[in-house]
Amino acid sequence: MTPVIAMEKQEQLSIRDLVADQDLTTADLAMIFELAARVKAVPGSFSHALAGKQLAMIFEKPSLRTRVTFEVGMTSMGGYAIYLEHSKPRLGERESIKDVARNLSRWVDGIVARTFAHQAVVELAENASIPVINALTDLLHPCQALGDYFTLREKFGSLKGLKLAFVGDGNNVCHSLMLTGAKLGVTVRVATPYGFEPKAEIVSEAKALGRETGAKIQLFHDPVEAVAGTQAVYTDVWASMGQEYAAHLRTQVFASYQVNENLMSAAGPDTVFLHCLPAHRGSEVTDAVIDSPTSLVYDQAENRLHVQKALLLLLLQPQRV
Ligand code: CP
Ligand code: NVA
Repeated sequence: MTPVIAMEKQEQLSIRDLVADQDLTTADLAMIFELAARVKAVPGSFSHALAGKQLAMIFEKPSLRTRVTFEVGMTSMGGYAIYLEHSKPRLGERESIKDVARNLSRWVDGIVARTFAHQAVVELAENASIPVINALTDLLHPCQALGDYFTLREKFGSLKGLKLAFVGDGNNVCHSLMLTGAKLGVTVRVATPYGFEPKAEIVSEAKALGRETGAKIQLFHDPVEAVAGTQAVYTDVWASMGQEYAAHLRTQVFASYQVNENLMSAAGPDTVFLHCLPAHRGSEVTDAVIDSPTSLVYDQAENRLHVQKALLLLLLQPQRV
């Protein structure tokens, strides 16, 4: 018989939507990680927990991991996910985002949205009466940070005091790693070329969050200096979705930020390698690093499923928890 694990009464997030990393309290983060660990430990658990629940998934940009993990997450818990391809027209072009939000609220139980403009997800959440989850915007990728820190928690036991270096472009993934890392007590050291630093307001916000947990947010331009003494080195593509037009120029600007065996040895012998994927092998990371035993990239990808199942359970089934 398929095991069905009941969720406990007190498990209730402080939020209805996950739009930005800062929305989650440290108690929320602990709750998601604990539930994700239970989901992962017992395959087939919660198999009927979302019976009858429907999720609309709006994607303006391509996706492998996010789309599949949300869809598998829903169906494996008895629910259903509807994929809404929105690359053309983008959200808000055929009708207002307000009307999309109000229509979907009458038919489904939750919305997952991947957009260019962060404001589009904010507007969806403001106008929907159902939970809205950010599946990546130009500004943030909170579900990614959840999967990544869950992966590091599995690897190192505890996150507090850990040091992570992000090398490359100060982009959406970098922003989410700084914000969620700061909440979890993880020091995040970011190395970018000049002009590609993370947004100043996100850096200030992450620094302020870090003051409460002891985490430091540090910016560098020298990747060797940034990775020294860290337990994890993270990189991402040099041109994010929507920046393909600048990919050639960026390849030249970022060349000395490649995560290769030399950089990994500057970090330390036991330092793990992380990447949100998709990766451009031979650009931001070499095959030797991504395929090495210290690479956790497929664990990160797998854990997206477990943390998002936990998130769906907590957001779509509040009466059960
Ligand atoms: N890491 C990530 O979000 O992958 P996708 O773009 O394939 O969803
Ligand atoms: N920074 C990348 C992340 C992809 C998951 C992008 O936005 O394309």
